[in-house]
Amino acid sequence: MKKILLLLFIALTPLSSLAQQESCCKASSQENPVLKSIMTRTSIRKYEPRAISPDTIETLLRAGMAAPTAINKQPWHFVAVTNREKLEKMGGRAAGAPLAILVCGDMNIARKGHGFDYWVQDCSAATENILLAAHAMGLGAVWTGGYPGNRYKLYQELLSLPEHIVPLNAIAIGYPAENPEPKNKWDTQKITFIKSAD
Ligand SMILES: Cc1cc2nc3c(=O)[nH]c(=O)nc-3n(C[C@H](O)[C@H](O)[C@H](O)COP(=O)(O)O)c2cc1C
Repeated sequence: MKKILLLLFIALTPLSSLAQQESCCKASSQENPVLKSIMTRTSIRKYEPRAISPDTIETLLRAGMAAPTAINKQPWHFVAVTNREKLEKMGGRAAGAPLAILVCGDMNIARKGHGFDYWVQDCSAATENILLAAHAMGLGAVWTGGYPGNRYKLYQELLSLPEHIVPLNAIAIGYPAENPEPKNKWDTQKITFIKSAD
């Protein structure tokens, strides 16, 4: 019965209320710098060769470590690569970037106590923080895959990382040499509201 009611609700909910919300949030996201940064971030895959200052790199790393993390375990480790030869050997988007930050799970920390499986979520939250911080500072960045798959092993070997440091991804970062439009992913079909009865 509950399922039937839920399906009826989904079918009958007028889209006008969602449309209203869209216009509300579009406007506010232009005024609020955090929302503006979230709404206008998009993956940047081409970069100017210009180097990124150590201060800026530290700000990106601080943004990563400010992420939420299950039971405050912080099972992450960040590897910041500016060495041109290593970046080129990493391949993919890193090859054309002045900086790659690998967001890694530290298995020695992840395995301690409860909540081993949360390391991917914790590192993903840190990754999104870095992407948003990069965009907010006028940089462009893209998340590129590491773990699972085989790329993380290549990174471990190339950068002489110990086995317990597992690169979840490599974020290629640089001053943008392209200006793509952010993708509009807003889709009311992907939302279910469970409201109290009016
Ligand atoms: C887990 C994950 C892996 C990704 N791997 C790659 C990748 O290997 N190469 C790449 O160019 N982009 C990669 N991306 C970026 C996505 O392609 C991109 O986020 C998606 O197309 C949406 O575009 P947007 O970031 O501009 O909103 C990855 C994103 C995620 C979340």
